[in-house]
Amino acid sequence: TTVEWEAASYDMGGHDTYMHKEIFEQADAVDRVLRGRIDDRFSTVHLGGLNLDAREARSVRRVKILGCGTSYHAGLIGAQMIEELARIPADAEPASEFRYRNPVVDPDTLYIAVSQSGETYDVLAAVQELKRKGARVFGVVNVVGSAIARESDAGVYVHAGPEVCVVSTKCFTNTTVAFALLALHLGRIRDLSVADGKRIIEGLRKLPAQITEILDQEAEIKKIAEEYADARSMMFIGRVRGYPVAREASLKLKEVSYIHAEAYPASELKHGPLALIEPALPTVAIVPDDDLLEKNRAALEEIKARSGRILAVAHQEQEKADRTIVVPKNEDELDPILMGIPLQLLAYHTALALGRDIDKPRNLAKSVTVE
Ligand code: G6P
Repeated sequence: TTVEWEAASYDMGGHDTYMHKEIFEQADAVDRVLRGRIDDRFSTVHLGGLNLDAREARSVRRVKILGCGTSYHAGLIGAQMIEELARIPADAEPASEFRYRNPVVDPDTLYIAVSQSGETYDVLAAVQELKRKGARVFGVVNVVGSAIARESDAGVYVHAGPEVCVVSTKCFTNTTVAFALLALHLGRIRDLSVADGKRIIEGLRKLPAQITEILDQEAEIKKIAEEYADARSMMFIGRVRGYPVAREASLKLKEVSYIHAEAYPASELKHGPLALIEPALPTVAIVPDDDLLEKNRAALEEIKARSGRILAVAHQEQEKADRTIVVPKNEDELDPILMGIPLQLLAYHTALALGRDIDKPRNLAKSVTVE
């Protein structure tokens, strides 16, 4: 069984679908997750629910993030942020896999359960098993007072507000921001400098306005979606910071448009997927303006040389791409928060062009509370 869809209880606010409404709520939602948490005096953030003193924070040797679906993808971005800003080895794994492989539970590891609903059974069961073994478990959860929030030792609320559409958009974005806050907090207790703390805080403050800038491009993205809607399959590529963005964008397109999509690290193209490239298989490439820009450009060239169509999401127009959606640049570490947002709109408008049931895709449920 699944949790009943409670659409009737929320106002559509002039939008035709909840997905559209929730995409357009993101600037406000991000504002909410930041509100009251920034501490300019020490260039860090306060996270009231964390319950982790500085000595404990310094004793964390590893971070393991667990979640399902879109929350797992937010966890992949979170793991990179924690590793980059706090220099703690971190990774994310689907909670459903973790709990069936008899994992080594380590007292120096901080486990983080990620969930929009706070009710996903596989995540809850992983939390309960970890706690039974004496592990420290944090929650990064949207729904206040939900099962996972209650069972965790401490955590960070995501404050995205109610999300009704089965596919997650604003909660994904807010979860990645919550991870940026956690990474900054852990970083500033460890080796992240005041200057870097300040730099990240400035970047965080820019996010709401930059999200609005991206959403203002809707008309253009709609046109692109209509151009690509006849594809039977699409390839999504990115590397390092761009790769989890590619994975989430690929999931979003699949879920809501039913177009087959595959996400691959751009660096792995030559080890197999290049064989698929032809005009009928468009590629969506995440191309941030960071130290991997030239590498990403080389991947675009390889695809172009095989007559592949390319849609780039980048910080500047990409010459090799047929189309580029230009997004505003933030700090390198925070770019992943923004780069997926135009691709939510791409998935939305593709699904709309194909006449899909956007808020309730076939075979899917908002919250899976059984195995
Ligand atoms: C379901 C939903 C997904 C969601 C996943 C995890 O599969 O269809 O959109 O990402 O559950 O949900 P959670 O509430 O734990 O984030």
